[in-house]
Amino acid sequence: MSGPRPLEGMILGAASSAIQIEGSWDADGKGESIWDRWFHIPGRCKATGDVACDHYHRFQEDVQLLKQIGVDSYRFSVSWPRVMPQGRGPVNQAGLDFYRRLVDLLRKNGIKAAVTIYHWDLPQTLQDLGGWANPDTAAYFRDYAGTLFEAIGRDVDVWITHNEPYVAAFMGHATGRFAPGHRDHSEALAVSHNLLRSHGLAVQAYRDTGLAGKIGITLDYFPASPATDSEADVLAAQRDRESHLGWFADPIFLGHYPAMMWEHYKKKGLVLPRVTLEDLELIRSPVDFLGINYYRSSVARDCPGEDWPLDRTYVPAPGEKAQANYRHQPEKLFEYLRFLNDTYAPKEIMVTENGYGAQETPDRHGRVMDYDRIDYLYRHLEQCIRARENGLPLSAYYVWSLLDDLEWTGGYAHRMGLVRVEYETQERTMKESACWYGRVIRERRLVE
Ligand code: FCB
Repeated sequence: MSGPRPLEGMILGAASSAIQIEGSWDADGKGESIWDRWFHIPGRCKATGDVACDHYHRFQEDVQLLKQIGVDSYRFSVSWPRVMPQGRGPVNQAGLDFYRRLVDLLRKNGIKAAVTIYHWDLPQTLQDLGGWANPDTAAYFRDYAGTLFEAIGRDVDVWITHNEPYVAAFMGHATGRFAPGHRDHSEALAVSHNLLRSHGLAVQAYRDTGLAGKIGITLDYFPASPATDSEADVLAAQRDRESHLGWFADPIFLGHYPAMMWEHYKKKGLVLPRVTLEDLELIRSPVDFLGINYYRSSVARDCPGEDWPLDRTYVPAPGEKAQANYRHQPEKLFEYLRFLNDTYAPKEIMVTENGYGAQETPDRHGRVMDYDRIDYLYRHLEQCIRARENGLPLSAYYVWSLLDDLEWTGGYAHRMGLVRVEYETQERTMKESACWYGRVIRERRLVE
């Protein structure tokens, strides 16, 4: 193919996570995770991850799908309790072997491995000891990460210590909407500090191995713009950013917690974590990249009288949908990347998730003509190209997700895959978007 190839040199991949696709929640010595526990509470969730996409038994077929699409890299997560059923102590060899076989197969097929060490599935036994609110969990995490570095480290190109620690800390411990379902804002602050410490410990452990891959972290955020240019709305947008992105990115890249939010929490009477200088040094251990998951942008508006500790920054107007502040705005991705580069100067930025969910049914030929998804991906990749043309250090882009999967408390209705999964039969079918993405990867440019 002739003509410019603006995606040349960029890693193009697809992503998944353990709980969302593997199934086999208690097979071959695997321990229970906090999400297994959560899914099994009657009436709590729409579905469980007991079977999911049965990827544990079908990973060979799934690697063939990756190969067929032609991705450069596959991002997946390791289930901690599959590898260490109790979260610490003895390793479950069968669990470790599963990931060994997966990375071997990826390598044989010329696909790079990008491994998320923690995608929210804490071993339940560690939760019983206090979970991430227990400072010792950070050291257990380092040991678990070290086990992975030793077992598969030579074949892994990219390590992501944590996926979206904001969600793990605040949705798991402040709003209670995710496992382990606590509603204690001070606990969420303690948890976030321990997640950050565990990140630093894993980065240092990785450096000690001398392995040549890259290590970083993936943060989520819906970049907020103020609803108006009033000072109150501008401050609301700043609070939104500091409490979500900045609460993690500032300590990692700047060496301190965001000042305004710290004061804000203090004024609200929350217990702030006890932070030592050693902690801050540890958390600031240099990373090779910043990973971001980008889906939508948001609008922040000051909402006086809303007294939830986080401060709601948007109250829908009458007739507006509850989530009206979230918008698909691909061009905000470019602005966000520029903001991240200016503020944190990471060596590289990777978009570790971007994707589109819908309720889909195949047509009468069994095909899924998912043009909305193609349009969404097209418009976001366009912004990635723009970012690179403007000199921003964006090195990778992963579509969420390879397969239709278990979308946490939302169950299986919301399909996000490039590949359709028929859950009754576990049959996989490439959607139109998978074929389109394959052409983009081959030609290294956006195609219609
Ligand atoms: C992100 C999660 C991922 C997936 C997408 C849709 O927040 O990291 O597991 O569920 O949302």
